Amino acid sequence: MNELVDTPRDGRRVFFALWPDDTTRSALRFATQRAVQVSGGRPIAKDNLHLTVAFLGELSAEGLAMARAVPPIQVGEFEITLDAIGVWPESKILWLAPLAPPPALGELEARLWDGLAERGFRTEERIYRPHVTLARRARAIEEVVAPVLWPVRELALVESLPYGKNVHYEVLERWPL
Ligand code: 2AM
Repeated sequence: MNELVDTPRDGRRVFFALWPDDTTRSALRFATQRAVQVSGGRPIAKDNLHLTVAFLGELSAEGLAMARAVPPIQVGEFEITLDAIGVWPESKILWLAPLAPPPALGELEARLWDGLAERGFRTEERIYRPHVTLARRARAIEEVVAPVLWPVRELALVESLPYGKNVHYEVLERWPL
């Protein structure tokens, strides 16, 4: 962190995510760099690539403590094969996603929201579409992607911090699956 970080907001913007290890991070970048280029979008920095499991938004210190108390959620380690790439026309997000999300990921998301709901968090109404955002303001592409195999061993709680005009993600805590 450095002087580019703005003064803190009232709340802390946090989310639960799968946070790739360095090998997976490099594989994600390598497999998708051409599609990112072709899309003309604004690339997400390699260090920021992740897959959100549950977005919580801005939390007070108390809310953050409650969210932190929900894991561990031991669904067991699992693998995700990220083999689909595309652009959502409404958000113009270029994404990488599993064609067939593993059942363990669905279970993790459901059990996480069960625990959050018990503590008064409101469940997301929209359908969960697991994905890694690769670029924003992207044009439609017709690229295909070499599948990326992501071994998932942990759930992370991550804070999103303003970083100049960009964002910096800080992993606050990790729990083994
Ligand atoms: P996105 O990349 O598809 O925008 C940090 O902002 C993470 O939380 C990103 O993975 C982002 O998804 C996700 N996110 C941001 N706002 C969200 C919202 N309102 N609902 C669900 N996920 C959100």
